[in-house]
Amino acid sequence: MSNFILETRELTKEFKGFTAVNKVNLNVRQGHIHALIGPNGAGKTTCFNLLTKFLAPTAGAIVFNGKDITDAHPARIARMGVIRSFQISAVFPHLTVLQNVRIGLQRQLGTTFHFWRSERTLDQLNGRAMALLAEVDLESFADTITADMPYGRKRALEIATTLAMEPELMLLDEPTQGMGHEDVHRVTELIKKVSAGRTILMVEHNMSVVSGICDRISVLQRGAMLAEGSYAEVSTNPQVMEAYMGSEAAELAGAHG
Ligand SMILES: Nc1ncnc2c1ncn2[C@@H]1O[C@H](COP(=O)(O)OP(=O)(O)OP(=O)(O)O)[C@@H](O)[C@H]1O
Ligand SMILES: [Mg+2]
Repeated sequence: MSNFILETRELTKEFKGFTAVNKVNLNVRQGHIHALIGPNGAGKTTCFNLLTKFLAPTAGAIVFNGKDITDAHPARIARMGVIRSFQISAVFPHLTVLQNVRIGLQRQLGTTFHFWRSERTLDQLNGRAMALLAEVDLESFADTITADMPYGRKRALEIATTLAMEPELMLLDEPTQGMGHEDVHRVTELIKKVSAGRTILMVEHNMSVVSGICDRISVLQRGAMLAEGSYAEVSTNPQVMEAYMGSEAAELAGAHG
């Protein structure tokens, strides 16, 4: 048995004759922070949509923990522990931070409504919600209305609501997108912290984030896998450098120093 938590085999997605994902073999090792990078339009988000079964593949297979999940329903995949942040766990801006995490927990624990009527269960729920907030350094924001928090903190809350779903494999699509330097740093540290005991697959354009926290990197180009390896390996790969020609080439090299 391999120690890959996630494997795709010749995974393919066509949109009306256009191949967005082309025979991709992706191997994600248990416990790793694995980056999926590539130029705009390379097929990264489409890959994520295939992995969470938001889209059905045209061909190929997806294997999670040794089980073929190619035909599993999205809800079943989520129950197995494959959770995509910023999708299932969208937060409600007008509720407090604590209320949002509680909703995430209630969603995880099911819909048997009467179950929640007992005081004891509610206390347990609050205790677990506060523990999750502590994990993402948001304890002091528990009673803050979510909309009133800075952007980076909202992202931290989204990670907390994702943790409420008890992910084994977390999928993060551009977690630092649109952030200022300070928030990028905070969220990067947070991803590193919550990766303990979990596996993370993330799409990330910021190469200093990738080089800083990712154990392994897969590079997509025009739907196909161009390279896979450590940051040192992929960033010096001539094909990868060529794929990143132009504005992003400097970015790729810049993350070294
Ligand atoms: N539903 C769709 N129908 C048709 N074409 C699509 C669809 N979704 C994506 N595509 C195309 O597939 C290709 C890959 O798109 P995708 O969003 O996966 O790229 P990406 O790597 O996530 O890019 P970015 O870095 O810009 O987020 C693009 O050419 C896109 O236009
Ligand atoms: Mg994308």
